[in-house]
Amino acid sequence: MARKISIIGAGMTGATTAHWLAERELADLVLVDVVKGLPQGKSLDLLEAMPVIGKDVRVIGSNDYAATDGSDIVVITAGLPRKPGMSREDLLNTNADIVKKATEETLKRSPNAIYIILTNPLDTMCYVTMKVGGLPRERVIGQAGILDSARMRAFVALELGVSVENVACYVLGGHGDSMVPLTRHSNVAGVPLNEMLPADKLAAIVDRTRKGGGEIVALLKQGSAFYAPSAAIAQMAESIIKNKNLILPCSIYLQGEYGLKDIFFGVPAQLGSTGLVKVIEYKLNNEEKAMVEKSAVEVKESISALKL
Ligand SMILES: NC(=O)c1ccc[n+]([C@@H]2O[C@H](COP(=O)([O-])OP(=O)(O)OC[C@H]3O[C@@H](n4cnc5c(N)ncnc54)[C@H](O)[C@@H]3O)[C@@H](O)[C@H]2O)c1
Repeated sequence: MARKISIIGAGMTGATTAHWLAERELADLVLVDVVKGLPQGKSLDLLEAMPVIGKDVRVIGSNDYAATDGSDIVVITAGLPRKPGMSREDLLNTNADIVKKATEETLKRSPNAIYIILTNPLDTMCYVTMKVGGLPRERVIGQAGILDSARMRAFVALELGVSVENVACYVLGGHGDSMVPLTRHSNVAGVPLNEMLPADKLAAIVDRTRKGGGEIVALLKQGSAFYAPSAAIAQMAESIIKNKNLILPCSIYLQGEYGLKDIFFGVPAQLGSTGLVKVIEYKLNNEEKAMVEKSAVEVKESISALKL
């Protein structure tokens, strides 16, 4: 039987996630949204692209959660995106209600599903799904770090004129402006980043990475980034469906790793068929530890502002 991935929210990130997933021919796809006709129209359009790209993927759209029955993975992108000048935290309780409903409605139809969360504020929305669903931490994984790391990789590759494939960057922490780009652990074909780039160039790249989401929001004027975030979701889903055990920076509920407990936080995570397999721990120096602690305070504040 074909695997099934349901995507809740058929807006910019939801529909683009379906697009990247269809390209990978991983599973049949379901798009669900509250707007009448939107998931149906986008899924029909995508279905009609399948003969052109030669992929046998069934894509359906619905306003009814019944369509999600028996999903292997549920991706939650439903919610409101940031507007210019609006912080991720401004969205907190509106999106928490939307994510709560999406979790309840999908979990009763797909009791074994693994959840990938995108809705912002990301780390807090992961917490909503885990708590509302009563799920083990292995089955709730947030997307943020792949995107943040990919932005840094793209900027480094542009600066050095090398392939993005040679650039490995690692960003830890909450998905906010206090994220922690680990320049010491990042490298170009194995050479540490700080040996490849002068300090001022590297600092500028770190700063641009931290503000990467806001840069796109300011340019678009309406909505926020969608190509890169949804490509990241497709990579996570592939590692789960194919049991690839890729180690990817994801938001994971920590239970003592990095000295943190009871919060979702961006860390390198091995993803396999059961969801989270293992959290990988870097040895951090004091400066990095201080940045991690600062970022964790922001996530804790956001979780404590939740009205579940
Ligand atoms: N974690 C990340 O890295 C990251 C990156 C990009 C966007 N985001 C977040 O993802 C979310 C979606 O962004 P987007 O650009 O796709 O926004 P969008 O507005 O294009 O799409 C959101 C969709 O959710 C739908 N929706 C609203 N309430 C719903 C409900 N109760 N049930 C089902 N669908 C519902 C809307 O109708 C809309 O189609 C936002 O919260 C955004 O901030 C996170």
